[in-house]
Amino acid sequence: MTLLEIITPANPALRHKANPVERVKEPQLQQLIDQMIATMRHAHGVGLAAPQVAQPLRLVVIETPAEVDDDGEEIPDSRKLYTVINPQITWASRKMVLGIEGCLSIPGYLGEVARHQAIKVEALDRMGRKLSLSLKGWDARIFQHEIDHLDGILYTDRLTAPENFWSEEELRKQEEEEEKREQESKGERE
Ligand code: NI
Repeated sequence: MTLLEIITPANPALRHKANPVERVKEPQLQQLIDQMIATMRHAHGVGLAAPQVAQPLRLVVIETPAEVDDDGEEIPDSRKLYTVINPQITWASRKMVLGIEGCLSIPGYLGEVARHQAIKVEALDRMGRKLSLSLKGWDARIFQHEIDHLDGILYTDRLTAPENFWSEEELRKQEEEEEKREQESKGERE
């Protein structure tokens, strides 16, 4: 399977508004979908939008993270793969939630973004069938992030504050320091 090149903000194509897909069952489109799924999995991503592989189409693939049981073990087959064509967010909760996001087009960085806690999405699947989804939590976040890509919007446009953007290394250091502080304050109490 051919892997596709994931473009970064250095390529202006990432910022273009994508066009609706007209013919879903065209072999070329089906091949692009397969290549996008392979590329997303190879990059260990949970979602990939066509503009990220320089295709100006309203098409995203999403594979939600595995659910874990009480022992922290991954539940087999709990990942869900979606091919989402011409998506529309038809409803969004007023409630917003904060979360840390990354993007395959901005490797090595993470940032804090507020997203709707729940959304409803209407789209077509890869067979051209109507897809109606009610999503919440992380799944809703992933869909909002990917659908943004179709309008040339990156999560860095939506940061809760410009400083809430970190390299993975910075974030890891911050977490280690917090843990250390917690342990120290625990030590003081004991
Ligand atoms: Ni992204």
